[in-house]
Amino acid sequence: MRIVIINGPNLNLIGTRSPEIYGTTTLDELDAACRGWGIEAGCEIETYQSNHEGDIIDRLHAAREADGVVINPGAFTHYSYAIRDAIDAIGIPTVEVHISNVRDRESWRRVSVVSEVCSTTIFGRGIVGYRDAIRHLVARAAWPVETVTYGPDADNVGDLRIPRGDGPYSVAVMIHGGFWRNTAARDLLDLAAVDLTRRGWATWNIEFARVGSGGGFRSTTADIALAIGSLGDFAEGHDLDLNHVVVIGHGSGGHLALQAAIGMSEVPIAAVAALAPIGDLDAAHRAGVGDGAVEAFMRRTPDQSPERHAAASPIMNLPIGVPLLIVHGDEDDRIPAAISRAFAGRAADEGDTVVYHELEGVGHDALIDPTMPAWEKVVDEVDRLR
Ligand code: DQA
Repeated sequence: MRIVIINGPNLNLIGTRSPEIYGTTTLDELDAACRGWGIEAGCEIETYQSNHEGDIIDRLHAAREADGVVINPGAFTHYSYAIRDAIDAIGIPTVEVHISNVRDRESWRRVSVVSEVCSTTIFGRGIVGYRDAIRHLVARAAWPVETVTYGPDADNVGDLRIPRGDGPYSVAVMIHGGFWRNTAARDLLDLAAVDLTRRGWATWNIEFARVGSGGGFRSTTADIALAIGSLGDFAEGHDLDLNHVVVIGHGSGGHLALQAAIGMSEVPIAAVAALAPIGDLDAAHRAGVGDGAVEAFMRRTPDQSPERHAAASPIMNLPIGVPLLIVHGDEDDRIPAAISRAFAGRAADEGDTVVYHELEGVGHDALIDPTMPAWEKVVDEVDRLR
């Protein structure tokens, strides 16, 4: 697989240009890092930088022979329809990357005219965003994927993968974590989605409004409901079995998965698999998870608005009413396993069917990483929910 990395104007100056925003890595170092990430991911990397719009367009045209493009168009992002058209014209999977959090800066940086022709947009992760973009392209190539728009907002998209063999297929709706913040995106679940698809699940790995991009309890949960409901629109065309829809969420996505099952859903939710979830907002807030993440998501502390938090906290809405699988690693340093232990106990007391596994020596991300033994445990249990 051959991936071309294109950096636009002023990115030749990173390292010294506004280091408080773009960091201290130079372009040469970034290019070398990308080649290293390419080797790790099993692909060949070519790098290119230009300050000139026409040159970038020519390089995009030449990339027609490649398998993927990672582009940071710099300030061209915000107004170059010519670059947008070039990306569209070459028809190669392209990931838009920004080092900084463009949605958390001047308002004109929030506008991207290229996003809609890119497979996904990764921003605010520093230079690691380029690594994640390479990995995303490799995951896209690993299994056919259709990126489907399910609603009116830019983040109302999801990646649909259909397994081999005869349908109808059970569906795994996948909700990524990242403390509901906008710098996290569905690429976090790419490898897990590919692996589940390989094992016979149709996977619907969804994006949604996150904090900093129009998200917050009401709007985020509304997007999740819309994304799940939209399965009804393409079930027939893809032979999806809507009586076997399992919602899988990781971290804050585990919270959203549990909340989705509490609400009324247009498409019935057969079961929830919550991996290292935030099942109790109040406990998570008190434990200081995600550096103020609960307060940012709820826009208030639990003390300021107990009713609002109660409505949004799965543990306050038991029984959930569908079979629950809860898995948590006892070495999770982001969300304490104690929250899930207490949640699972309470859910069972309130009448839910709960399978709870606390995995020894396992951290937060191992639960979604197909290269880790913990993932085998997760998929074994998820398969039982089918
Ligand atoms: C950038 C963000 C753009 O707004 C800016 O013009 C850049 C860099 C980023 O990587 O964060 O040049 O694309």
